[in-house]
Amino acid sequence: MKNIPYGRQSVDRSDIAEAVKVLRSDWLTQGPKIAEFEKSLCAYTGAKYAVAVSSGTAALHIASLAAGLKCGDEAITSPITFVASANCALYCGARPVFADISPDTANIDPDEVSKRITRRTKVIIPIHFAGHPCDLSEIAGIARKKKIMVIEDAAHAIGAEYKGSKIGSCKYSDMTIFSFHPVKTITTGEGGAVLTNSGKLHRALLLFRNHGITKDISLMDRTMRGCGWYYEMHDLGFNYRITDIQAALGVSQLKKADQFVEKRRSIAALYNDAFAGNQFFDTPDEKKEAYSACHLYPIRLKDGYMKKRKDIFASLRSRGVGVQVHYIPVHTQPYYRKLGYKRGACPNAEDYYSREISLPIYPALKAAQARYVIDTIFKICGRI
Ligand SMILES: Cc1ncc(COP(=O)(O)O)c(C=O)c1O
Repeated sequence: MKNIPYGRQSVDRSDIAEAVKVLRSDWLTQGPKIAEFEKSLCAYTGAKYAVAVSSGTAALHIASLAAGLKCGDEAITSPITFVASANCALYCGARPVFADISPDTANIDPDEVSKRITRRTKVIIPIHFAGHPCDLSEIAGIARKKKIMVIEDAAHAIGAEYKGSKIGSCKYSDMTIFSFHPVKTITTGEGGAVLTNSGKLHRALLLFRNHGITKDISLMDRTMRGCGWYYEMHDLGFNYRITDIQAALGVSQLKKADQFVEKRRSIAALYNDAFAGNQFFDTPDEKKEAYSACHLYPIRLKDGYMKKRKDIFASLRSRGVGVQVHYIPVHTQPYYRKLGYKRGACPNAEDYYSREISLPIYPALKAAQARYVIDTIFKICGRI
């Protein structure tokens, strides 16, 4: 059996044709495809505004800036995430504060969030880990009481739903970010977006995406009206623009997002059936209010097997099963430890990490490949 990665993109002829059309057009960047992609993202999620950018990391950075995060502020986030979810606070000079997870979903625990709120807390950044939505109404309730902003990190969760609303609708948050990296539900190569229902945040996001520059005449020096060359820089922004080539791919991919999620869910269902009641590991659950995008299929080794994770992982890889581990708790990374963060601060997250292995899941994974993954893991765990 050929190597099976833990995740990969599904790009077909229609996607390629759309990207090629842009390559033949006048606009490779700053053209009409970007607005079209943003409009499609709004139609898909139900949010009023979308700002497409060069990566999920850029999306987190400009969302944090738009939220007003700055030196002296704190941002509460989860340790079970990719480092970008916390780094965005550091980029703004603020301090990430890690709240422990609920062991079942590995999502941030709202009670732990409450315990970590101080007068410095400016934002909460919950992550929909593995595509399973967080307890958003609880988090929104906590934030509302304290006038704190919520930025959903939905890098894993485009296509997921919470209480019947699409993730990205921002029904329970101020902003939501997506990533379009190739392992995610839809891809633009690299890419990301911020969604919001606030006109004020939307204006700030547009500024931060493009060097802090505006050409909106209502915001500029009146005496310069009618000067075609004129623009003004109003803030310190960045070049976080996405290209039209990527946006065309995004428009084409987004049409297939629901289909991709259904495919992922059918693979998760196949795994769930095969693994039900096994003695080696626990499998992911889905809460009744959630419809998961199944970005990952994280298993957790039981007590007798967790000490053998390294061997199980290596044996799976050597047999062509491209497993991965999500995630090394962010506060235990050397950079964060140098900043004073301590191991032991989030025991559930640290325990989760020591048991976790992500099995391959992506739309093009064939049933025969999934069965190979199932047979191989049973064989390896049975021998350990
Ligand atoms: C939870 C989470 N947030 C943010 C990011 C950053 O996204 P990008 O790789 O598009 O910058 C990732 C990427 O893997 C992620 O998994």
